[in-house]
Amino acid sequence: MLAYRHAFHAGNHADVLKHCVLQQVLAYMNQKDKPYWVIDTHAGAGMYSLASDYANKKSEYLEGIARLWDCQDLPNVLQEYVDLIQRCNAKGDWSLYPGSPEVIRRSIRADDRMRLYELHPTDFDILEEHFDRDRQAKVFKGDGFASLKALLPPPTRRAVVFMDPPYEIKSDYPKVIEALSEGLKKFAEGVYIVWYPILTRGDHVYLIDQMRELSDKTLNISMLVQEPDAQGFGMLGSGLFIINPPWILAEKMQEVMPYLTEKLAQFDGASFEISAN
Ligand SMILES: C[S@@+](CC[C@H](N)C(=O)[O-])C[C@H]1O[C@@H](n2cnc3c(N)ncnc32)[C@H](O)[C@@H]1O
Repeated sequence: MLAYRHAFHAGNHADVLKHCVLQQVLAYMNQKDKPYWVIDTHAGAGMYSLASDYANKKSEYLEGIARLWDCQDLPNVLQEYVDLIQRCNAKGDWSLYPGSPEVIRRSIRADDRMRLYELHPTDFDILEEHFDRDRQAKVFKGDGFASLKALLPPPTRRAVVFMDPPYEIKSDYPKVIEALSEGLKKFAEGVYIVWYPILTRGDHVYLIDQMRELSDKTLNISMLVQEPDAQGFGMLGSGLFIINPPWILAEKMQEVMPYLTEKLAQFDGASFEISAN
């Protein structure tokens, strides 16, 4: 059953963190001439309207990207991210928010390639139309977890894998581990970025432990911004676990995370963590 629609959450605090990190990883990849692939295993619809009923059901973007729109003192990394979002809109307007496929499209170079997977029929149709006639992108209506290993290694032997499942079904957690370990067996040098939510039930702790077992070159960046709701539930924050991270990423995010955490905090205990091994 596919109940999750990212349109309800576009531009929230988790999107801000994940798309900012994704953009920085791709900027690093662009420093070498050799072309690369970006494989987005859970692509979503590609572009979202912040004026839609979906986005305004809970208006999560107001606690995310909207908190950065008017900031005049953004650190460089966040300025680059906000500039990318602004370029998706008419000048001065903030009605559109790009999903990861659009962040990727706007970050890669002419010879780089994108492979996008999406299972939800409606979001797949929107995504396919959005990338219609884009010669750099191939869009698949398929299971991104299961399809990953067949794409690896990519022809140029350079790739970023971006894995951003909904985790609404608990089986997504073991599927992340399975897809990562299969991917690493076929392509150990790849950069793998896994997004995960921080929920009250704490599933991310075991997930991170398992991901750490897979590689000795990892970086974990997480941000806690919210308290549990009245029922004791909610997404308290999120994180990115990166295998084979660009060497400069930890340093860059160290400069940004204090500012970002303060801007996106919804309670006094907001915090962030950056840990490498
Ligand atoms: C969190 S959203 C992705 C958001 C997107 N990566 C972004 O940053 O804009 C997760 C998406 O994965 C899709 N999905 C769920 N399971 C999938 C699977 N096994 N393979 C591919 N897509 C899947 C959902 O329909 C949903 O659109």
